[in-house]
Amino acid sequence: ALVTLRQLLDHAAENGYAIPAFNVNNMEQMLAIMKAADRTDSPVIMQASRGARAFAGDATLSHLIRAAIEMYPHIPVCMHQDHGNSASTCMSAILAGFSSVMMDGSLSEDGRTPLSFENNVAVTAKVSEMAHLVGVSVEGEIGHLGSLESGRGEAEDGHGFDGELSRDMLLTDPEEAAEFVRLTKVDALAIAIGTSHGAYKFSRKPDGDILSIKRLKEIHARLPDTHLVMHGSSSVPQELQELINAHGGEVKPTYGVPVEEIQEGIRHGVRKVNVDTDLRLAFTGAIRRVFALHPGEFDPRKYLAPGIEAMAAVCGDRYEQFGAAGHA
Ligand code: G3H
Ligand code: 13P
Ligand code: NA
Ligand code: ZN
Repeated sequence: ALVTLRQLLDHAAENGYAIPAFNVNNMEQMLAIMKAADRTDSPVIMQASRGARAFAGDATLSHLIRAAIEMYPHIPVCMHQDHGNSASTCMSAILAGFSSVMMDGSLSEDGRTPLSFENNVAVTAKVSEMAHLVGVSVEGEIGHLGSLESGRGEAEDGHGFDGELSRDMLLTDPEEAAEFVRLTKVDALAIAIGTSHGAYKFSRKPDGDILSIKRLKEIHARLPDTHLVMHGSSSVPQELQELINAHGGEVKPTYGVPVEEIQEGIRHGVRKVNVDTDLRLAFTGAIRRVFALHPGEFDPRKYLAPGIEAMAAVCGDRYEQFGAAGHA
């Protein structure tokens, strides 16, 4: 059944686990996410970015999710707008049948400049008021994702702000977070603790200097009843980098967010963990492998099916590691 983010995260909080939120752009990702959820008996959050909506089209995406629900009627599914950049994006997602929206007011609508606290509150409170009228959940964001290592926003993959940010801006302030939740009434809160989107998060295995689980704990201590969201939380497994590079790819050496760090976060209020890059790596690695080993093959199903299985393996790992398994 289609459920809201609030329903899923309330249950996760009562039972001390988190749900991975996987990005979906196409049928293969949907099938992988659902297969793994079925195998592990997990609740599902599927999220579509603005890019996904432009790529696949709203009709395709909303029918994909409905197909998922029809195929697996015993699994609760939330369909979430990832990184809505305006009230209008969030409203059109609701009209397309999404049960949850993220209003990301940490940046201006064009993504080029950080937005002030007041402007973030204003746009998020507006979305929150309207979404709640029709039973849709809302995620907000306070603080700015980016690298504590370089002190920059997210130039890397074209996401977010490409420029210098102070350490203060890159780490969510607990008092500001509390004020933000009070004023906006969001159901879930995305925070900045040193993670960023894409494969190139850290140049070494992150320690407390570049990934602040300490700050996460301080935010949770101040807001014990708020569902926290970790963005940029792919682990970028070494073996997936190697799978791609062994078959003609050129992924540069890099580190993601270790699963143990996410698990520590889950012990301190994290209930939604965003994962996109890891599925991209798994899908690409599996397809590259078929292309390299069977260059004469040209039936897309011959490489898409292994691609689905590779993504499902990652999804299954995360459902288990985040404690969602068994909670569908
Ligand atoms: O926000 C980040 C997600 O990984 C979605 O990426 O905007 O390229 O679809 P995208
Ligand atoms: P990754 O790039 O680490 O997978 O993060 C995805 C994300 O935060 C989507 O909102
Ligand atoms: Na989101
Ligand atoms: Zn994100």
